[in-house]
Amino acid sequence: MNKSSLPVHIAIIMDGNGRWAKKRNKKRTFGHREGAENVRRIVKHSARRGIKHLTLFTFSTENWNRPKREVNTLMRMFSSLLDKEVSELNKNNVRIDFIGRRDRLGGTLLKKMENAEKETEENTGLNLVLAIDYGGRREIVDACSRIMRQSVSSIDEDRFRDYLYKPSLPDVDLLIRTADEMRISNFLLWQGAYAEIYVSPLLWPDFDEDAMDNAIEEYQTRERKFGEIKE
Ligand code: IPE
Ligand code: IPE
Ligand code: MG
Repeated sequence: MNKSSLPVHIAIIMDGNGRWAKKRNKKRTFGHREGAENVRRIVKHSARRGIKHLTLFTFSTENWNRPKREVNTLMRMFSSLLDKEVSELNKNNVRIDFIGRRDRLGGTLLKKMENAEKETEENTGLNLVLAIDYGGRREIVDACSRIMRQSVSSIDEDRFRDYLYKPSLPDVDLLIRTADEMRISNFLLWQGAYAEIYVSPLLWPDFDEDAMDNAIEEYQTRERKFGEIKE
């Protein structure tokens, strides 16, 4: 793999946990558990590959509309994942950040998220961004609300970015979606404006290190034009 043209920011819509479980005649939560295992694998691999920012779509603003039991299981899983993984990630120099709404999450989970951010804020390796209760539209509307509250008198694209959840997060270079779905599903609408999109037929729990490398290699063959004409 060519190390000089790596995507700086990879964002992944981790999809297909439910289908993975269904294929095995198991409950959807079984797929989510396997999906969480794969998060560990892909985070490790991204760090190994020298990726700077990895944003994972973990729970969308629309995912609250799923059955309460599934939502509760997912929330419990996020919480226990933070318990189990943060110190290891910290040791590996990973900086953890969260984007999304914070007003609808449970107090205990929120506290763990804040602690993880604090504990890892000085780290200089992979920046792992977990999008929880995240919606791209909501992020833009939240930014607008803050702009209005601060009576900002003029705005442009650079200044607008300062009001996003994490202004230092650069634009997405490579947007990966698993499970063959060809939608954005309200993910990173602002930051993904010129992302190269890669759709994998693999269900998220099956999207392994080789699959990730294939996505990066495919990205490296793309010609990014940003609206210009390139001869
Ligand atoms: C993605 O897998 C995980 C979350 C959205 C939390 P899904 O649960 O959407 O799996 P499918 O799409 O039903 O297979
Ligand atoms: C997108 O997957 C959200 C996450 C991966 C967290 P969904 O499964 O919720 O998206 P849709 O419903 O297929 O668009
Ligand atoms: Mg899905």
